[in-house]
Amino acid sequence: MELGLRDRVAVVLGGSRGLGKAIARELARERARVVLAARSLPRLREAAEEIRRETGATVLPLVADVTQEGSLEQVVEEAAQRWGRVDIAVANAGGPPVTTVETSSLDQFRYALELNLLGTVRLAKAVIPHMKRQRWGRFVAIASVAARQPMPGLVLSTTARAGVLGFVKAMAVELAPHNVLCHTVLPGYIRTRRLEELARERAGREGREPETVLAEYAQQIPLGRLGDPQDVADLVAFLVSDRARYLTGTAIPVDGGLWRGI
Ligand SMILES: NC(=O)c1ccc[n+]([C@@H]2O[C@H](COP(=O)([O-])OP(=O)(O)OC[C@H]3O[C@@H](n4cnc5c(N)ncnc54)[C@H](OP(=O)(O)O)[C@@H]3O)[C@@H](O)[C@H]2O)c1
Repeated sequence: MELGLRDRVAVVLGGSRGLGKAIARELARERARVVLAARSLPRLREAAEEIRRETGATVLPLVADVTQEGSLEQVVEEAAQRWGRVDIAVANAGGPPVTTVETSSLDQFRYALELNLLGTVRLAKAVIPHMKRQRWGRFVAIASVAARQPMPGLVLSTTARAGVLGFVKAMAVELAPHNVLCHTVLPGYIRTRRLEELARERAGREGREPETVLAEYAQQIPLGRLGDPQDVADLVAFLVSDRARYLTGTAIPVDGGLWRGI
């Protein structure tokens, strides 16, 4: 299926690893020009080189921290100066630590809101003027099924991500007249470094093997397996394409059926 992404300019946050890297790679395969942003430059360079080698696409690695004022504005301006436009923005970063309501400090709540909610807001504010001017834009926030369904240890994620759902929905309504279409994607258990870390931490606390914990996650999933980052990347590539021209304000779980809501 032709997605019509050739030469589109995409900014992918958290693009050096995991879900962000898989999304960036998929957009590069579709011949988009991709900016990868994250905090560690060596990891970004490595990811950019790998994607370039594999796809032949133009990939620009830029250092950014979604929690820092001005950081995302700089990334977006650099992309716009280089290529004259910014078509696609994917808000993504790391996840907050495992805690409970009682063990989380207020500082941990503040940081989760900075990382996952305000990082999304900052990216949106930086790209909206470009997308409105072009009368074409696609904004995708990577949240979590934890936004809809509390999961053990993920209260910080649930709190911040429920805000992301509300923010992106409001943005979708406000920007629809400008042909800027906005979505939230809700991954379930997707096998990345973060999921492996979460499993290792839990296994350590419970005196078990990380693979046993991962197998237990998989048992909760109707499709019977953990997700692969490519499962998320395929949905995002569709959502940012011309093929998804009549969709906006959606919130789509990519979770093998984990979320039991109707
Ligand atoms: N994997 C899952 O099963 C799953 C499920 C639901 C939701 N999610 C959410 O999806 C997002 C991506 O998950 P993942 O599994 O791909 O995580 P990951 O493997 O830990 O990758 C996170 C990426 O974000 C970057 N990053 C972290 N903090 C950042 C910051 N402050 N500013 C800019 N970039 C930052 C990291 O690079 P640097 O460290 O170099 O900055 C890295 O590129 C997370 O928010 C996670 O909570 C994941």
